[in-house]
Amino acid sequence: MNKKIVVIGTGYVGLPAALMWAKSGATVVGVDINENVVRAINERTMLINEIELQQLMEEPQVRSNLVAQTHPASGDVFVIAVPTPVHPLKKVADITYVESAIKSICPYLKKGNLVIVESTIPPMTCRNTVKPIIEEITGLSVPNDILVAHCPERILPGNIFQEIIFNDRLIGGMNEESSQLASQIYSMFVKGNLYLTDDLTAELSKLMENTYRDVNIALANEFSMICEDLGVDAKNVINYANKHPRVNILNPGIGVGGHCIPVDPWFLKEIAPYNSRLITTARLINDEMPSRIASKIRHGVSNIDNPKIIALGATYKKNCEDIRESPALEVVKILKQDGYSIKHFDPLVPTMQYDNLMSALKNADLLVILVAHTILFQELENNQEQIKNLMRNYNILIFDQ
Ligand SMILES: NC(=O)c1ccc[n+]([C@@H]2O[C@H](COP(=O)([O-])OP(=O)(O)OC[C@H]3O[C@@H](n4cnc5c(N)ncnc54)[C@H](O)[C@@H]3O)[C@@H](O)[C@H]2O)c1
Repeated sequence: MNKKIVVIGTGYVGLPAALMWAKSGATVVGVDINENVVRAINERTMLINEIELQQLMEEPQVRSNLVAQTHPASGDVFVIAVPTPVHPLKKVADITYVESAIKSICPYLKKGNLVIVESTIPPMTCRNTVKPIIEEITGLSVPNDILVAHCPERILPGNIFQEIIFNDRLIGGMNEESSQLASQIYSMFVKGNLYLTDDLTAELSKLMENTYRDVNIALANEFSMICEDLGVDAKNVINYANKHPRVNILNPGIGVGGHCIPVDPWFLKEIAPYNSRLITTARLINDEMPSRIASKIRHGVSNIDNPKIIALGATYKKNCEDIRESPALEVVKILKQDGYSIKHFDPLVPTMQYDNLMSALKNADLLVILVAHTILFQELENNQEQIKNLMRNYNILIFDQ
């Protein structure tokens, strides 16, 4: 299909999609307000550390079809993939990035264009924010003149390339024509099913997917506290409970991180404060986990004067490099605020100077594993003797398995 697609926001979500459309033959303009991101794309350096995406960047089709710049351009389809964080204290959605991205494309919009919002957005955002902004600035009507669809992304950092192709996808058009055109655009590279629905259903569905995960993780975390009080291994009990054919309890952990799961349930709470008691409680339970883990670490060194603690794993989940909203960072922050001497390393986070780990372990009293990267366990196993010799007290606490 000979379309020009303008992708606004080329981060974890926008860039992989831009690469896939470019590979599929579309002319793609990646737009980002961050000049470093734009430069990296044009120099074909990858900011997301996933090998298949790096290879994709080098493909001839991508080289000739994708260009990045800091300002929008005219096109047939505009895809909005900018952040939608939650306010850290008020826990309400911050959709200012979406608003300014929509405003930035308005001067380029022409009758018949399609605007796709991929960002995760609160319910009614297409109707109450996207539509009025476009109509006011362009004088064109939505969705008759300018088609609009919400097509939320479901990718998992660490496995983006597979997921962007094979995941099923929702296509939530503001009218039938919007859904049909958006569906054609995604069928250029998506091999999963495309389910055509309306914008509000797509907005709610995306939020419910992550809320479901959050509530189930909270359930596992709460159960782990019950077991802990009784001196029982929660994972063992969960393993047995999961032998029931209709039970699938998740693993308890150190909290919930990333760009989506700790954020999206708040969007439902905001729109339905009186009907979201379970959702809110789950959020609070999961947010509380880092301070509970910090207490356990304190307890682990309670009989040592001025203990030296080494924490390993900083990302929000294992085997990825994404540290956004990471509960591991929160645990370390709490202990530092308490005055503990704690050093933090992660082999997958380039800025965390993992090379210095062995020297940091000298005379350490406690080694804490907060994120169970596969490579981390391999290295600990390979260097076990050396670590034992280096540490003053060979104590290890493993929280995330
Ligand atoms: N990361 C994920 O795994 C994931 C998965 C599903 C959905 N989402 C959702 O997708 C959206 C984007 O997330 P992300 O992880 O790609 O964020 P990101 O921070 O990795 O990337 C967003 C990019 O948008 C750019 N940007 C911000 N405002 C802009 C503007 N007005 N014009 C142009 N560029 C602008 C930023 O500079 C940044 O590079 C969010 O709503 C998120 O909740 C993310």
